[in-house]
Formats: sequence, C-alpha cells, structure tokens
Amino acid sequence: MEKRGQWASNIGFILAAAGSAVGLGNIWKFPGVAYNNGGGAFLILYIIIVFLIGSTVMLAEFSVGRNTQKNAVGAFRSLDRRFTWVGSIGILTGFIILCYYGHVGGWVMKYIFAYATDATGVFVDPTNYFLNFLGADGNFPVQAAVIFPLIFMAITVFIITKGVSEGIEKVSKVLMPALFVILIVIAIRSVTLPGAMEKLTQFLVVDFGKLNGTSVLAALGQAFFSLSLGMGVMVTYGSYLSRKENLVRNTLTVCSLDTLVALLAGLAIIPAVLVSGIEVSGGGGFAFISLATVFQGMPFGAFFGMLFYILLFFAALTSAISILEGTVAFVSEELNLNRKKVTIILGIVMFAIGMLYTLGQAYSGMTGIWLDVNGITYPPFGDFMEYVTDRLLMPICALAFCIFVGWFWGIERATQEITSGGKYGFALKGIWTILVKFIAPIAIIVIILSGFGVFGF
Ligand code: PHE
Repeated sequence: MEKRGQWASNIGFILAAAGSAVGLGNIWKFPGVAYNNGGGAFLILYIIIVFLIGSTVMLAEFSVGRNTQKNAVGAFRSLDRRFTWVGSIGILTGFIILCYYGHVGGWVMKYIFAYATDATGVFVDPTNYFLNFLGADGNFPVQAAVIFPLIFMAITVFIITKGVSEGIEKVSKVLMPALFVILIVIAIRSVTLPGAMEKLTQFLVVDFGKLNGTSVLAALGQAFFSLSLGMGVMVTYGSYLSRKENLVRNTLTVCSLDTLVALLAGLAIIPAVLVSGIEVSGGGGFAFISLATVFQGMPFGAFFGMLFYILLFFAALTSAISILEGTVAFVSEELNLNRKKVTIILGIVMFAIGMLYTLGQAYSGMTGIWLDVNGITYPPFGDFMEYVTDRLLMPICALAFCIFVGWFWGIERATQEITSGGKYGFALKGIWTILVKFIAPIAIIVIILSGFGVFGF
C-alpha cells in the first residue's frame, strides 16, 4: 500500500478546495444565471442557499472524508457498507464531468492563443470562428477534439502524479491568488467602461418580486455544481486534512471564497456585456462567441480577452485536478494499484470519451436521450452528458450523503469529527442537524424532480 498524501498546511487545503469550487461554473455560468433570474434579489437568495444548504453538505462531505481518511468509496465502505454505492455514484459523476470539462479546458487554452496571436481573426466573425473550430465546416476538428484537450489533460495528469501536497497544493497556492488578481483587474476594467456603473446599479436593484420557483432552482443547482458537491471530490480532499484543523471554519471559508469569486465574476462580466448592447447569458457559446464583441469594442481588447481566458484556464485547471484526484484516489486505493499509472491511464480514457462531447457539438450530430416536459427528447450528446451529471447523479449523491450523515452515521459521530473530538466548539450544531436531516434533502429532491420537468418548466 502506498503512503497516503496529506496537505502540508491548512491554507493549502483551503486554496485547493476553493480551487476545486472556483471553476467555469463561477465565471461563465454564474453571472448569466444571476442576471436572468432576478439580479440583486437573486444574489441574496444565492448567498442564503450557499450558506444554508451548500455549506451543510460540504461539511458532511469533509467530515466523512477526514474521519475515514479514505477515498469516496472506501470511506462509505468503512463506515457503512450499505452506502458504498453513494461513493461510487460520486466517483462516476466526477468521471463523466472530467471527460467533458477536460475538453472545454482545452478550448479555453486555444482561445488564450487565439487572442494572443490572432485576435482580429476571432473578431471578424466570432460565431463561425468558434463553430468551425468545433468542426461545423465539415473538417475533423483536430484542435478542439484532440490537440488542446490532450494538452490540458496532460497538465492535469502531470499535477496529480506529483501528489497531494507537492502537486495539487503547490499549484493551488500559485494559481488561486493569481486568479484572484486577474479577476479584480478585469472587474475594474469592466466597471470603469463608459456607462458601466449605471448598468451595474440597474442589475443590483433588489426586487424580490422578480424571484420565483425557477430562481430558487437555479440557485440550488448553481450552488451544488459551483461548490463541487455530490461527486466525491470534497470527501477526498477532506481525507487528506489533519484532525488538528477546524472543519467548520474551513467549510465556511471555502464557501465564502467560492461565492466571492462568483460575485466578482458578475462584476467583471455583466457591466461590460450590457454596455456592448448584447445579452447576458452563460456557457460556452456565451464565453467563446458573445464575449468577443465585448473585447472587440474595448481599448486593448485583445489583451483583456487573453487575460480573461487565462483566468478561465486557471479556474478550469484547479477544478479538473480535484476531479481527477477523486477518481485516482478511488482506483489506486481500492484496487491497490500504482498511483502514477492509474493517473495516466484514467487521463487517457477520460480524454478519449470526451472526444464524443466535442465532436457532438457541431461535427458528428450525435445525440443522447432525455425525458422532460416535452416527453422524450434527443439533446445533443454534450448536453446529455451534462444532464446526466448535473440533473441526476450529482443530486442523488448529495442527497444520499445528507441522509447517510444525518440518519445513519448520525449527528453525534459526525459532531465528534467536526469538533475534532471536542477540541473546537460547534455552535451551529442545532441548525446544522435540522439542515442536514431535513432541509437539504428536501431541497435536493426538488432539484431532481425539476430536472425531469415535473414542475412544468
Ligand atoms: N465547481 C466547479 C465549477 O464551478 C466544477 C466542478 C465540478 C469541480 C465537479 C469539481 C467537481 O466549475
């Protein structure tokens, strides 16, 4: 058995966990979700949900991980064999997510180069630039489906082979502060554009009348994905943490950092997009196509564009390594295999499966199958992969987590772990008990049902 890794410092753990949480979800999804679901009122709702529900589940994951000092599957196996499947679902979710996340990370790298060397080429026709990159012109998209994703996955694999403290921790300690600085530079650029302040103030107006069922669901779904919950990642990261550290404070710090970055991303993106007269939305099409108009219209736009994709790259990389670590820890520990070899093989397999994701965008026309308000639908294969993880597997894993910790492992044993055997106080114990046993499970069930259109939207 190889020796298990451990974080060298508490701040290293915090930055690594925040690195996992801060990802593409914060930067290219959150601003659009916030803008289209109620603006200022949504921000308040989101913050409440992160701290009530998100932090509850995160604390549960950290405590199971740290208590067992095992990977997500091993952790459940050692605490209660009946729940081993929960860890397996988490690992499967992470596995599928990294298949496509690794490819999108590659596209981001391509855009760093595109803005650095040929920004005018993007600006002439951003839509076709992106679509042809993905193979819409009928040529096999070598760059989008092979070269760049391969580079991105190779970097991810390399970091994981270096281990927990020498790899993940060291990289997070550099990339997270750098990400923060870049984001602040872009946010300042954005809010100082002519007319930006006015647009920002309009966005921030708090009008609770704008919130409805959809906003609550959007906030819940966004919070889970953004905090990297329900995929075995936080369990694994918690398992490398020393019992000396304060779990409650760490959880609240990670949730705060993730939310802070999401809010800053809103500041960076929303004003700049609105003054350019385009719509605020989210996802790949928005980040790779719409934002070109924003950069084009801005002094030194090519430079700020490049900076923006570097930001996305740092965010995507620290998330990707966390998912790979979760899977590698599982395979190497449970099957007792060499960690380095496992890392390389998993990296290659994920890259290969991810090709289906990229090719499904514009080249192959491959679809998946889903069920929603419209009955059976055949979404593009890429969307299908995201539905399976975001709407189904991730929430099921998070739900089972709460039920396990709240009802089976039990509040007392969890509290022992959370307080490091009584060393730290846990003033929020009463509230956390209600949240983990009742409120969080109900919220998650609502997310699952809504993913299948049960509420009619
Ligand atoms: N939390 C990351 C984001 O916001 C995504 C992620 C998902 C990271 C799953 C790890 C595991 O983009």
